[in-house]
Amino acid sequence: MQLLYLSSLILLLLQPPNPCESKRLVGPISRGPSGRIKGGQEAEIGFAPYQVSLQPIVGSHNCGGAILNEQWIITAGHCVENYIPALVNVITGTNKWAEPGAVYYTESIHMHCMYDQPYMHNDIALVKLTQNITFNELTQPIALPTRPVHSGDEIVLTGWGAEEAYGSSVENLQKLTLGFVPFEECYDIFNQTSSMGVGHICTFSREGEGSCHGDSGGPLVSNGSLVGVVNWGRPCGVGFPDVQANVYYYLDWIRSKISGNSLCYY
Ligand SMILES: *[C@@H]1O[C@H](CO)[C@@H](O)[C@H](O)[C@H]1NC(C)=O
Ligand SMILES: *[C@@H]1O[C@H](CO)[C@@H](O)[C@H](O)[C@H]1NC(C)=O
Ligand SMILES: *[C@@H]1O[C@H](CO)[C@@H](O)[C@H](O)[C@H]1NC(C)=O
Repeated sequence: MQLLYLSSLILLLLQPPNPCESKRLVGPISRGPSGRIKGGQEAEIGFAPYQVSLQPIVGSHNCGGAILNEQWIITAGHCVENYIPALVNVITGTNKWAEPGAVYYTESIHMHCMYDQPYMHNDIALVKLTQNITFNELTQPIALPTRPVHSGDEIVLTGWGAEEAYGSSVENLQKLTLGFVPFEECYDIFNQTSSMGVGHICTFSREGEGSCHGDSGGPLVSNGSLVGVVNWGRPCGVGFPDVQANVYYYLDWIRSKISGNSLCYY
């Protein structure tokens, strides 16, 4: 299983070695790059106006994210871990990550204070922008959920992730409709891995479809609200569910951060 982001190379060039990184790479669940949805379809223009691309250098897609309001973006923790704000450029208002509708810059990065504790848990982060986002037809916030996801809910994933494991991100935003996999079922499929917990939800459609490298941090939306943030999976679309941050579970943490509280809620 792997995290699904793209810029490990850039991180290696810019950051001192992280003593934990090698453990992660050789562990049963390793961290890989992020990319395009496998088995998805091209999204219509304006299909997911909440979708953003996080770019360490403008012109290189690393991760997805979603707009919560004028000032705040939500993404996965592993997408911004060890990043300085100057390396988190937020591209909005476009189906083509290389053709920004607008570029916003990051004032501060707010990792969940229990990120990766235990391993692979609490993989969620908020990014505060230096300037308010201007909303328009192609740029809109996504609502937070008012109830947990249920079996039978239709969930839509969007992203620029690779079509094949370790592939590069695709030019046009892709979409894929997924179903919710109940926790116990997913937990059993992953042989009761300690990398899964109440802060996760699982999604699945069929073999040949799923999130892939470059989709990390991106949105899973059901009935107009953000229910998940892409976390990890067995790349890509090889018949296992994908594991996502459970946004409903993190509502208190999200609201408290956005209102300026520095306490650790989880
Ligand atoms: C930015 O948006 C926030 C709401 O998220 C609002 O309170 C604030 O007044 C806005 N700032 C400017 C400069 O428009
Ligand atoms: C769970 O264990 C079974 C039997 O060892 C194995 O075939 C399967 O691939 C494992 N599942 C995962 C997700 O690793
Ligand atoms: C979808 O959201 C609307 C409000 O936006 C709500 O009235 C409706 O009950 C929701 N449908 C489901 C299936 O949750």
